[in-house]
Formats: sequence, structure tokens, C-alpha cells
Amino acid sequence: MTTGPSRHEPVLVEAVVEALRPCLDELVVDGTAGLGGHTQALLDAGATRVLAIDLDPDAVRWLTTRFQDDSRVEPVHASYADLPQPLGTERPAGVLLDLGVSSHQLATAERGFSFRLEGPLDMRFDSTTGAPAAQLVNRLPETDLAALLREYGEERRARAVARRIVARRPLESTTELARVVAGAFPGRRRLHPATRTFQALRIATNEELEVLRQGLAGAHVALREGGRLAVIAFHSLEDRIVKHAFRAWARDGEGEVLTRRPIRSGRTESRRNPRARSARLRVFAKASAG
Ligand SMILES: C[S@@+](CC[C@H](N)C(=O)[O-])C[C@H]1O[C@@H](n2cnc3c(N)ncnc32)[C@H](O)[C@@H]1O
Repeated sequence: MTTGPSRHEPVLVEAVVEALRPCLDELVVDGTAGLGGHTQALLDAGATRVLAIDLDPDAVRWLTTRFQDDSRVEPVHASYADLPQPLGTERPAGVLLDLGVSSHQLATAERGFSFRLEGPLDMRFDSTTGAPAAQLVNRLPETDLAALLREYGEERRARAVARRIVARRPLESTTELARVVAGAFPGRRRLHPATRTFQALRIATNEELEVLRQGLAGAHVALREGGRLAVIAFHSLEDRIVKHAFRAWARDGEGEVLTRRPIRSGRTESRRNPRARSARLRVFAKASAG
């Protein structure tokens, strides 16, 4: 048994393994390896070599421990946005990106990802560099903050939320922010009122959409001819970027989209693992030589 932060249950595992099965005899890149759930599933399915990349130094430490006795796995601290650079001159047959935050990151209060746990307004995947979310929350002019919440959180009440935040700052903690945001939403709702605000701040803090655009392009360049790219998105902003990138490559004759519609999790998986409910997997096959 492995011990450690094994609470992250990987989503759409079977579909990911099927998508990358033709690649398992060669190098596969798990570009967001996290706690190694998908990496492990690929190994169990016969993967011969996995480069397990993560931007979070804690995740890389955990991956190093988890796979210390398995020479097929090489954990690397890097951003998938920098592909193909972390690979040197190697060309993988498969790349997997499972976007967003891991359940372990969400459950670790000090990381500041959760509005349910009291922690600092951090939200960085790599907390050793860059500016934490507190800088946006406490320094952005109100109109810019509203624009950020609208654009990255698709928050309809962005102006009201931004106004309340600005009136009450400086804000120190996740739960304090969540309370302030909740004040802009009278009545009960299905989603916690802070959900969209936290999503927006996390995306902005980590420049996630830029990183995704850059990472998709880098992964496409990195792949060998005939290789496959599988991407799991968790909200429509990400999914749209993946869909458009794949379609544009297909139109340019650079390969084929293998998922006309995204693959979603079934009812059993969604019931067991709430993260799976919003997961959408798309797969692209790069054109073969000749
Ligand atoms: C949903 S989790 C992945 C979980 C993993 N598939 C598993 O089964 O355990 C997403 C991971 O991506 C990492 N991440 C976020 N942005 C990244 C980036 N630009 N480059 C590499 N990893 C990144 C996060 O630190 C997090 O560990």
C-alpha cells in the first residue's frame, strides 16, 4: 500500500488508458501528474516510460516517493506550458493533460484553493514563485476585478461581487473572502456563491488559459508523428480552448480529432467522485509521416 496524499481519485481513467494505449510502448508524458493516479493507471496498462511533470513542488516530491522503486517513471518539476523543452530532444508518443487542481491541493488549507477551509489567499500551483491571489483581491481596481470575475468565472454578478470586495479589503483569508462574496447573493443557491469567484481568481493567479494555449501548442510540437494528445478539462473556458485548438489542427491537415464529442464520465463515476461530473476528455491524433 502507498501512504500519502492518495485522496485524489483520477477521473475518466479507462477512457484515458484507451486513448493512450497505442502509445504505451514508447515515452508518454503525464503533463499534470499530480498524485500520480493517471500515471499509475498507464503503468498498470503496460506503459514502458512516463515523464511525470507537475508545477507544484509538493506534488513532485510526492511523485518521487510514490514511484521511487519504479524506474519507468521520471518525476520532473516543470510547467507543461514549456513543452517540448523538458523533454530535450525526445519525442513522446502520447501526452496527457488533466487540468485544474488536485483534491489534495483543494484539501490543503494553506494552499488557499478552497473557500470552505480557512487559509491564505494564495492559489498558486507553484507557491515558490509569482504573486498570490491576495494581490489581485486587494490591489486590483474595482472595474478590473469585475472584468476578471466575469471573464474567468463567468460570474453574472461580477460588479456586485467586486464592489463588496473593494469595500471590505484588505481581505486576508479564503473564508473571509467567501463570506464577503456570499453577501452579494441573497437567498439560497445550488452552487456555493464563492465558487465562480474562486475559479476566476485561481485562473488569473496561474494564468491558466494562457498556459493551456501555450501548452497545447507545445505538446503538439513535442509529439512524434502519429502520437496522441489527451486533455481533460473541467470548465467550459478550458474545454473551448481545447476544442478550438484540435479543430484548427485538423483543418490544417495536421491530424485528426478522435473525439467528435468530449467523453464524459458515467453516472457511477460521477456519483462516486464529484470532480468527475464536470470532466470532459478530448483526444487528438497527430498525422502520421508520409
Ligand atoms: C487535476 S490534478 C492532476 C491529477 C493527476 N492526473 C492524478 O491522477 O493524480 C492537476 C495537476 O496539474 C498541476 N498543474 C497545474 N498547472 C500546471 C502546469 N502549468 N504545468 C504542470 N502541472 C500543472 C497541478 O499542480 C495539479 O497537481
